[in-house]
Amino acid sequence: MRLFIDTGSVAEVQEIAGWGVLAGATTNPSLLAKEDGDPGDIIRRICDLVHGPVSAEVVSEDPDGMIAEGRALRELHEHVVVKVPFCQEGLATTYALTADGIPVNMTLAFSASQALLAAGAGATYVSCFMGRLDDISVDSGQVLAEIVECFRAGGMTSEIIAASIRHPEHVIAAAQLGCEIATVPAKVLRQMLQHPLTTAGAERFRADWQSRPEFGDWMRGLVDRRAAAATRS
Ligand code: E4P
Repeated sequence: MRLFIDTGSVAEVQEIAGWGVLAGATTNPSLLAKEDGDPGDIIRRICDLVHGPVSAEVVSEDPDGMIAEGRALRELHEHVVVKVPFCQEGLATTYALTADGIPVNMTLAFSASQALLAAGAGATYVSCFMGRLDDISVDSGQVLAEIVECFRAGGMTSEIIAASIRHPEHVIAAAQLGCEIATVPAKVLRQMLQHPLTTAGAERFRADWQSRPEFGDWMRGLVDRRAAAATRS
């Protein structure tokens, strides 16, 4: 499963892209509304940092408006994927944009039947919102499992994005179910780094190594000899 970052913050993308784990990013109007600056600049800067698809969402509510916005968003950067909210007009928009070769992420899918319609309209990606399902006491794992099963059995080629991720367990569930992508907020990606045994283990390695000060000299010598050899060659 690939990891995307779900954010409108260039600083967050910069930070997490440095880990080497990002395959793409998703934005949405709410995430961009929290940021200062021109949305187009933000989207372009995220595209430059992430060497993969970056979803940017249309905001019109009629197909003509959505299609026009989708075409314009796509021209911001070659990495842009047009994000289209799930609705009848969104399906028509998805059909038109993908027919023109523009990749579409159909968002706000909360059921297998919606996901099947999105795939039928040609969506490249279908985003199912786990956290928002859990918020209304619907088992997001079950809905996601149904979508995965329907797509596999039906031979759908759309990739499933697990979205509205609230904690690391959502990411694990999405991977276990066979979703192609999870789009994860920076806060949850940072939580995924943490384990108390990792922290304790690193502390013990550090203390044991420092108990032999000559080992520090040995490591520095090893690095310096290599650097010197590289300079000579
Ligand atoms: C997906 O692409 C959306 O941007 C996002 O996951 C929404 O998550 P939220 O429910 O935390 O707003």
